[in-house]
Amino acid sequence: MRRPIVAGNWKMHGSRAENARLTEELLAGCPAQPRASAVVCPPFVYLQEVGRLLRDSAFSLGAQDVCADAQGAFTGEVSAAMLRDTGCEYVLVGHSERRLLYRESDQLIARKFAAALARGLKPILCVGEQLAEREAGRTQDVVARQLDVVLELSGAGALAQGVIAYEPVWAIGTGRNAAPEQAQEVHAFIRERIGARDARIAAATRLLYGGSVKAGNAAELFAMPDVDGGLIGGASLKADEFLAILAAAGA
Ligand code: PGA
Repeated sequence: MRRPIVAGNWKMHGSRAENARLTEELLAGCPAQPRASAVVCPPFVYLQEVGRLLRDSAFSLGAQDVCADAQGAFTGEVSAAMLRDTGCEYVLVGHSERRLLYRESDQLIARKFAAALARGLKPILCVGEQLAEREAGRTQDVVARQLDVVLELSGAGALAQGVIAYEPVWAIGTGRNAAPEQAQEVHAFIRERIGARDARIAAATRLLYGGSVKAGNAAELFAMPDVDGGLIGGASLKADEFLAILAAAGA
C-alpha cells in the first residue's frame, strides 16, 4: 500500500513573516494524523525557521534543490549534509524550472539524486515534457530519458527511498492541469519502466502528479490508480487550498 504524499513547493515566494503565518495556518488546520504525508519546501534561507515551527507536527520539511557535490568550493550551493543538518527529510531534484532556467542536465540531476540519497534525504525527482514535445508525440521518450539517467546511475533500488513527480511543463503555473487520464497514462508508463528493472520497487514507488493542482481538481487526479499524491506550487501558498488538497489525497 503506497501512502500518498502531498508536497508544497513554495518556490521563491514569501518572507519570514509570511512564511511563519502560512506555517501556523497549516498547523492549525491539519489533522493530527493525516492519511497522506505532508511536506513543505520553503526557500533555503527559511528552512530552519519553518522547520522549527513544524517540529513534532505531521509536516515534513523539504528543500527545493541540492548540490550534487558533497562539500568544497562551490559558491552559492547547499549540500545534502547541510539540508539534513537543517532538518530536511525531502529535497526536490530536477524541477523543470531548474532544468529550463538554469540549464540543469539529466546527468547533473541524476548526481543530485544520488547525493541526496547518500545523505539520507528522500529525493523527489521531477520529470515531464514541454508542450512542443507532447505535441510531437514525444512525451514518453522525454520522460524515459529523464528517468533512465537516474536509474543508470543509482539503480532501481534507489527509487525505493525516493519519490517521482510527473510534472508536464505546460501544466505548471498555467492553470491548465493535465486531465486525470493524461496523468494516469504517463504514471503507468513510469511504473512500467521501473517495473522492467524491478517489479517490487515499481509497485512501491510513489508517483506524484504536479502542474496546476488545486482543491477543485485534486480528488479526480488522485483517484487515478497510479497517482500517489501531488507536488503543488501556487496552491501550496494558501493554507486552506493546500489542506484541502492534503485531505483529497487521504480520501
Ligand atoms: P503549480 O506548480 O502547482 O503552480 O502549477 C507545480 C510545480 O511547479 O511544482
